[in-house]
Amino acid sequence: MPEPLRIGIAGLGTVGCGVLALLRDNATLLEQRTGRPIEAVAVSSRDRGKDRGVSLDGLDWCDDARALAAHPAVDVVVELIGGSEGIARALSETAFANGKHLVTANKALLAHHGAALADAARQADRHLGYEAAVAGGIPIVKALREGLAGNRIGGVYGILNGTCNYIMTAMHESVQAGQARDFDSVLQEAQELGYAEADPSTDIDGIDAAHKLAILTSVVFGCPVDFAAVHVEGIRHVSALDIGFAIELGYRVKLLGITRDGEAAVTQRVHPCMIRETAPIARVDGVFNAVVAEGDRIGSALFEGPGAGAGPTASAVVADLVDIARGQIMPAFPAGAAGTSRPAAKPMDHHVGAYYIRLMVVDKPGVIAGIAACLRDEQVSVEAMLQRGRNPGELVPVVLTTHEAQESAVVSALAAIDRLDTVLEPPRMIRIEAF
Ligand SMILES: NC(=O)c1ccc[n+]([C@@H]2O[C@H](COP(=O)([O-])OP(=O)(O)OC[C@H]3O[C@@H](n4cnc5c(N)ncnc54)[C@H](OP(=O)(O)O)[C@@H]3O)[C@@H](O)[C@H]2O)c1
Repeated sequence: MPEPLRIGIAGLGTVGCGVLALLRDNATLLEQRTGRPIEAVAVSSRDRGKDRGVSLDGLDWCDDARALAAHPAVDVVVELIGGSEGIARALSETAFANGKHLVTANKALLAHHGAALADAARQADRHLGYEAAVAGGIPIVKALREGLAGNRIGGVYGILNGTCNYIMTAMHESVQAGQARDFDSVLQEAQELGYAEADPSTDIDGIDAAHKLAILTSVVFGCPVDFAAVHVEGIRHVSALDIGFAIELGYRVKLLGITRDGEAAVTQRVHPCMIRETAPIARVDGVFNAVVAEGDRIGSALFEGPGAGAGPTASAVVADLVDIARGQIMPAFPAGAAGTSRPAAKPMDHHVGAYYIRLMVVDKPGVIAGIAACLRDEQVSVEAMLQRGRNPGELVPVVLTTHEAQESAVVSALAAIDRLDTVLEPPRMIRIEAF
């Protein structure tokens, strides 16, 4: 009879209970696939009396999650508490110190301490599994690390946050239906539907997507996880007006995480993007996530699926457990194409791309000439200009798209435009990505 792989689960919330249910429901299948049983033997959570909808019979309950890391019957600690510090970090560090494997869905923990945890895992010769930390149910870590291992990867980009994608999709659909809804009303709806937290800032300010991008960068390029090097902007400033102009110009607005192996350094950025409506990723809507990998042999490959939820996230957690059960222990972050190079700390200074710019101006003669002069002075060349509606003496939107320009020049031009007394609101800018 083969030895079972024995699991201790810390955190019995959405994901923890999903993992327990999966291990029970698919126990026979998992044993057939790995050649040994995978059994939960111990758990820890805050409230012992809470009804979680799954049976805890036969499981050893630990009041302090850190006890799982020292539990003699536990081979793998599964950390599903969350947060980059406190108990989740302490538990993860002690797991390796005590010779346990660690599986976690905790992107915040990995984004801030992934490099140190990967070192600890290597020194302890134990596995650090984190498939569930990036894009939930999409097996993107495995795909990049194993399935695309033969490729030189130039870049990876994706929709990494379901809350933001839900909001962008709902705003887009409302504009298309002629009933434009603003950001706040769609956010409120997302909260009522359970797609956004009561405090939504980690999602809508791009931080959650940036956590995942920092991890993806290390998977792809082999450099240490460096969350501080990610340029992060959220979606709070994306308006229904901008989405309407995007539709008119043939674009969709999405919050993307983008990592690229540049000449000098790896660049990582999270911000709203305009992408051609015909790009495959433009059609990934609602709470779904998607990741596109660009490889020198495969070309471009899109991976799409549910980025959150009990079932999909448990599926990813258990994929890591299956690796461990099969004895497939590998370095957390493989050495990659970028070798030892580190992510650039300020990737946007040197960013070169096209830009969408929206200005709210007084409708009177000479206004456009003043704006054009500001752009000309910074050598930013205009590709197209839109002005909808005439309202002499009143406020009207003017939209410009630029040819490729360096971001520092665009930023200087926008600062000059903002100083014009005919421009009455701060200019809005969205980067256009040519996928
Ligand atoms: N939810 C998703 O779809 C999803 C997707 C991908 C990744 N993740 C990640 O997975 C992790 C868990 O997320 P979740 O959605 O399952 O969170 P959750 O529903 O809020 O569950 C967190 C659990 O941690 C427990 N907990 C809190 N403090 C604790 C402590 N000091 N000791 C022991 N247990 C403690 C809570 O206990 P009580 O229940 O007893 O209060 C709760 O059961 C997070 O890192 C999250 O980012 C989640």
